[in-house]
Amino acid sequence: MSLYDQTYARAMADPEGFWGEAASHIDWVKPWDKVLDDANAPFYRWFAGGEVNTCYNCLDRHVAAGRGGQKALIHDSPITGSVRSFTYSELLERVSKAAGGLQALGVGRGDRVIIYMPMIPEAIIAMLACARIGAVHSVVFGGFASHELANRIDDARPKVILSASCGIEPGRVVPYKPLLDAAIALSANKPSACVIVQRPQSPAAMTAGRDHDWMDWENEAQPAGCVTVAATDPLYVLYTSGTTGTPKGIVRDNGGHMVALAWSMRHIYGMQPGEVFWAASDVGWVVGHSYICYGPLLNGNTSVLFEGKPVGTPDAATYWRIIERHGVRAMFTAPTAIRAIKQQDPEGTLAKNFDLSGFATLFVAGERGDPNTIQWAERTLGVPVIDHWWQTETGWSINANFRGLGFLPVKYGSPTKPAPGYDVQVVDEHAMPVPAGQTGAIVIRLPLPPGCFPTLWGNDAAYVEKYLTDYPGYYKTGDAGYIDEDGYLFVMSRTDDIINVAGHRLSTGAIEEVLGGHADVAECACFGVADALKGQAPLGLVVLKAGVNRPHSEIVAELVERVRERIGPVAAFKTAAVVTRLPKTRSGKILRGTMQKIADGEAWKMPATIDDPATLDDVTRALRSVGYAKESEPA
Ligand code: COA
Ligand code: AMP
Repeated sequence: MSLYDQTYARAMADPEGFWGEAASHIDWVKPWDKVLDDANAPFYRWFAGGEVNTCYNCLDRHVAAGRGGQKALIHDSPITGSVRSFTYSELLERVSKAAGGLQALGVGRGDRVIIYMPMIPEAIIAMLACARIGAVHSVVFGGFASHELANRIDDARPKVILSASCGIEPGRVVPYKPLLDAAIALSANKPSACVIVQRPQSPAAMTAGRDHDWMDWENEAQPAGCVTVAATDPLYVLYTSGTTGTPKGIVRDNGGHMVALAWSMRHIYGMQPGEVFWAASDVGWVVGHSYICYGPLLNGNTSVLFEGKPVGTPDAATYWRIIERHGVRAMFTAPTAIRAIKQQDPEGTLAKNFDLSGFATLFVAGERGDPNTIQWAERTLGVPVIDHWWQTETGWSINANFRGLGFLPVKYGSPTKPAPGYDVQVVDEHAMPVPAGQTGAIVIRLPLPPGCFPTLWGNDAAYVEKYLTDYPGYYKTGDAGYIDEDGYLFVMSRTDDIINVAGHRLSTGAIEEVLGGHADVAECACFGVADALKGQAPLGLVVLKAGVNRPHSEIVAELVERVRERIGPVAAFKTAAVVTRLPKTRSGKILRGTMQKIADGEAWKMPATIDDPATLDDVTRALRSVGYAKESEPA
């Protein structure tokens, strides 16, 4: 039996013993009464009765143990041409002051703080400062526009918002402050204060009485100590796309989260304290929460905070340069980033100019790790490339290969085997497991392990309805795929309206709400089409209201602009076309799946339930006019 098999079997046979032992890597103010409290199932609670502080475990205890002089955070920003680092002691000092600054603004345990920031050290300082005083942070990705930010403000009702004057994208400065001001104007719940990092690239105008300059605010603050919270108290809320325009607030607790992340750093990522870890994601995504901020710091690693892109900042060698410069041991990125590098450097020659001898493993997630991309990265870097599968909801890997538990043989296209604590099954529509090799819905038997979301923010009912109802006894992942005869999982697609664009999770339902809101649009459909770089890209088809006779190109341009303005540039919505009618079933369901197949030139079958087959001819014509459906014929 391999070390992985033994570890997995032990975690499944004795979850309380397994996770109780894993919890010894965390310092507790008060130990838990019960490792797994199932008294209120399906609302499971890990480490019930325990008391902790997450910031203490990320910073104070490492300084107390003599790690104060080690780098905790390196901000490498090729986009601004700067590299700055902070030791554990320096980061502790800054976080303590920011925490004191939040308290001075009246923020206390359980209060929410929204963080809307680019990839600057203050983003990490803000998250840890909240954790220090028991406030609940909610980071909103900078690529979301005012409307999306306003949705999150209204749901989280923050006392304070922490932001910056601007973000920097290749070729343009993105002023964040006007977006923030507009979001606050749109929302019903106004924060009492905003604290703004003024960046020299575009300083912001401040609103008197509400806005504070971050540096003055931090300098004037008294350092705050750690506030003890319950292990089951929320550490953060992170909004993610659901099937409608209303995002879901994924809640993360303190105790179980720390135990799971600390375990994953050692056993999945194979990281020893003192080594350098780099997750090239954004603090606005779950990867940034777990593996730029909390995981590496809990494990005593140095974390790299990267402000740039895989290509163009300044070139396709930027990843390799940073690995060499900081002695990165393991890195985490999305397959789309590797595809972007491969596009510019197909033979992978740039990597040869750097000393990557200290680099041990590349991890990819966020979308399916297609075999071509994984194999190219293996050849280019000469190290194992591990595809692992997880979601905002779980906070850490569901399936992975395990650098710290031996290393299982790789099957390309598969994120390998379940991590301890996850009983992953593929089932049919009656929640019955299907035979090996057969595709079905991927579900996880309850309870989920520590670190996974205990509920949705302020909405226990939606937690049960959206995730736990369709397959009784299981958590519905929303992904579909199969498990082969060796127990390897293959994640093939979503079962809902979520699409994955450049490793970013987007709701086509949310885009449809924006398209449908245009004055000339009677009806619309949005679905994901194949994109060589980003994996998928959203495409919209609209039916115009009777009597509208403006040029279609004008309306399409307005639709593209509208999605950018309402959701944000991150939606990467660039393509739409006008059709006379949308194809539907006789019961009125729009046939998005068939349209997607036609667009991608895949074999498709005329749906037996289609109301009017001629609508598909119209759709095919419209798709061809925007460069899709080139070879599409019914099978
Ligand atoms: N603030 C403001 N705008 C942002 C932004 C931010 N934080 N992040 C992205 N945007 C904008 C971009 O400027 C771009 O705008 P444009 O339409 O004017 O060009 C748009 O949102 C889409 O951005 P992006 O998805 O980054 O696409 P891109 O074409 O600029 O770059 C890649 C393509 C592949 C290089 C890029 O998507 C990438 O690095 N992907 C990796 C994703 C990743 O690491 N995900 C983490 C999950 S593990
Ligand atoms: P997010 O919550 O944004 O992290 O997106 C989670 C979704 O991304 C999953 O439900 C999958 O659809 C997809 N995903 C993430 N990682 C992988 C992977 N390694 N393989 C296949 N799909 C993945």
